[in-house]
Amino acid sequence: MRLEIDIKAKAFKNAAGETQDVLAPVQFSLRDGEVGVLVGPSGCGKSTMLRIILGLDPDFEGAIVRPPEARIGMVFQEPRLLPWRSVEQNVRLAAPDVSDTKLAELFKILELEAHRSHFPGELSLGLARRVALARAFAVEPDILVLDEPLASLDDALAARLREEIATLVASRPVLTLLVTHSIDDAVRLGDRLFFLSPRPARIVAEVPIHIPRAARGDAEISAIKAGLNRRAERDVS
Ligand SMILES: Nc1ncnc2c1ncn2[C@@H]1O[C@H](COP(=O)(O)OP(=O)(O)OP(=O)(O)O)[C@@H](O)[C@H]1O
Ligand SMILES: [Mg+2]
Repeated sequence: MRLEIDIKAKAFKNAAGETQDVLAPVQFSLRDGEVGVLVGPSGCGKSTMLRIILGLDPDFEGAIVRPPEARIGMVFQEPRLLPWRSVEQNVRLAAPDVSDTKLAELFKILELEAHRSHFPGELSLGLARRVALARAFAVEPDILVLDEPLASLDDALAARLREEIATLVASRPVLTLLVTHSIDDAVRLGDRLFFLSPRPARIVAEVPIHIPRAARGDAEISAIKAGLNRRAERDVS
């Protein structure tokens, strides 16, 4: 499985009818088991890029090659749960084949057991994000797209879910594209980090991480972060 992104341009028209360029040419590809991470300033065009990649926004110049049979798991930046369905129904509707065991396991990992029958309106944003993660994982995706999935979670829970995402990625050859503002997420989970410019977004640096995810303990992660800092200092000097 391979995902090929070749965006030439993307623009929006604002309310005044003026055209606003959102994406500059962006080209990269990802294969099975690879985790690509997009890091870039707020408003640079990351969510727009994900929508294009998922085929939700056909109005752009360029091409995306995505295997048509690929199962996609998506966590949008806003959790987007169905408000009139319970937590459990939200997950089951997205993943009708999910087994009771798998569902129980996901709810346990994400600490959602007590919230199975709650409705989205009764959840905090952090809980709603966890339901969105459960829903994405439950479909057993070939392609997993995560738009800041750990935002607004406390540090301890974010760290735990980061490990759960690492476990999921290790358990099946899922091709993952993650958007994050967190360097911790990027260096723990990524194989290739793509640093984006302010709008219109283009890739200003691509940094591969060669240490396998399973071998990244605290020392390795600190070393990778130090490498990124040195690189950033070099780039500004
Ligand atoms: N439907 C739309 N119509 C017009 N402009 C839009 C639309 N969606 C996004 N934009 C504009 O495109 C730019 C990029 O938005 P986008 O949501 O992709 O940014 P982002 O990188 O995901 O930001 P953040 O990190 O804050 O989530 C912004 O200037 C935004 O205002
Ligand atoms: Mg966004």
